Amino acid sequence: MARIHAQSFAEGWSEDEIERIIDRPNTTSLVAIRDGFANGQIEGFVIAQAAADEAEILSIAVDQFRRRGGAGWALMDCVMRQLHSDRIKTLFLEVDEKNQGAVELYRRLGFRKVGERPGYYRAPDGSRSRALTMRRDI
Ligand SMILES: CC(C)(COP(=O)(O)OP(=O)(O)OC[C@H]1O[C@@H](n2cnc3c(N)ncnc32)[C@H](O)[C@@H]1OP(=O)(O)O)[C@@H](O)C(=O)NCCC(=O)NCCS
Repeated sequence: MARIHAQSFAEGWSEDEIERIIDRPNTTSLVAIRDGFANGQIEGFVIAQAAADEAEILSIAVDQFRRRGGAGWALMDCVMRQLHSDRIKTLFLEVDEKNQGAVELYRRLGFRKVGERPGYYRAPDGSRSRALTMRRDI
């Protein structure tokens, strides 16, 4: 998970940080493993954290060489089913408005924008972009 996180985000989380996050109470973590892919390599992961009957996606990422193969969709679909069975009613997430692939994935999954934080993300070149807050009933 740390390997994929580091490929995917400017500030990668260490193995220890990931372990601490997934050990927190009320956290749901899923990994994607392709059928027949038995050498222990995961294709992606999603981590969600619940509070009362709401939850938020803390992180989702797919191995950079396996993107566009359906793993991101499958991870979101599975985590929403799991949260629904845990009686969660609403799922929130935040995404960089410039992250068009992720925004499109969430839009197709039925998430809608409910807010934004101007200048929330900073790119390596110093430019800033908005965080979109999106939500979906589950
Ligand atoms: C966002 C991410 C998790 C998507 O995972 P993925 O496995 O590549 O996504 P999927 O193959 O399941 O894509 C499902 C649908 O989402 C949309 N989508 C995904 N990536 C896209 C892209 N780069 N451009 C446009 N649409 C995209 C498409 O509608 C796609 O369906 P299609 O392939 O039939 O057109 C992956 O790109 C990733 O790890 N990115 C880096 C980390 C990141 O940005 N995480 C999100 C932070 S909020």
